[in-house]
Amino acid sequence: MSQRVIVTGGSGGIGAAIVERFAADGAAVAVLDRRAPSGGSASFFAVDLLDPLDTRRAVGEAIETLGGVDVLVNCAGIFQHASLLDITVDDWDRVLDINARATLVTMQAVAPVMLEAGRGSIVNIASMAAKHGGGGEGHYAASKAAVVALTRAGAQEWGCHGVTVNAVCPGYVLTEMGADTRSEADVAAWSAKSPLGRLGIPEDVAGVTHFLASPAGGYLTGQAINVTGGMIMH
Ligand SMILES: NC(=O)c1ccc[n+]([C@@H]2O[C@H](COP(=O)([O-])OP(=O)(O)OC[C@H]3O[C@@H](n4cnc5c(N)ncnc54)[C@H](O)[C@@H]3O)[C@@H](O)[C@H]2O)c1
Repeated sequence: MSQRVIVTGGSGGIGAAIVERFAADGAAVAVLDRRAPSGGSASFFAVDLLDPLDTRRAVGEAIETLGGVDVLVNCAGIFQHASLLDITVDDWDRVLDINARATLVTMQAVAPVMLEAGRGSIVNIASMAAKHGGGGEGHYAASKAAVVALTRAGAQEWGCHGVTVNAVCPGYVLTEMGADTRSEADVAAWSAKSPLGRLGIPEDVAGVTHFLASPAGGYLTGQAINVTGGMIMH
């Protein structure tokens, strides 16, 4: 049977590539996002992930439309540059609520269906910021470290029911995220950090995400896989 897949943030740069990767395999895909996707290969459920009740509602509607759920990909996220002395409590709450709390809420919303079925895959898009110094983005790095921690907790709690939970940690991927502050010098400097000499593209992340939710990735759980072109190696 083809996979039934929910992708949060599926209208964004990386999320849209993930939707296309699963759809290319014949999967039925539901996108949860606050804006509609530009392509038409998925069903769309408008949601503000800042709101846990609205999030539970949207996940429930997606599961009903798909007739179940085999894969959840948490890809929605926001980024903000700010030094530690400038991060406000509101900044902290917003970044943590969307990036980390909403990940917990969607995991909680799909888990009963997966546990009942005795199978399922959850892939959370974290960031290399979870693992290396988050200077200039401390709240973002903290939110992504929380995503990795939730991933490991899910793997430990739900593995005995046949559910895998993994994270993907992208490096610097060319999308709208960060585009407002991105200069040519930034692109050159970040590219030079990769032994491959380039930044990531959304398809780099989509391929690994798809693999983790495929039978070939079935013995991986609790992992936080770097998709950074070798920018970090731990
Ligand atoms: N681009 C990068 O360099 C990079 C690096 C590491 C990790 N990531 C992570 O990858 C994921 C995808 O990032 P992207 O580069 O595609 O960003 P993007 O800005 O292109 O897409 C993010 C998507 O999330 C959605 N979203 C944000 N807040 C939402 C909310 N409150 N409710 C509903 N939807 C909401 C947006 O509408 C958008 O479609 C994020 O979790 C991001 O932190 C990105």
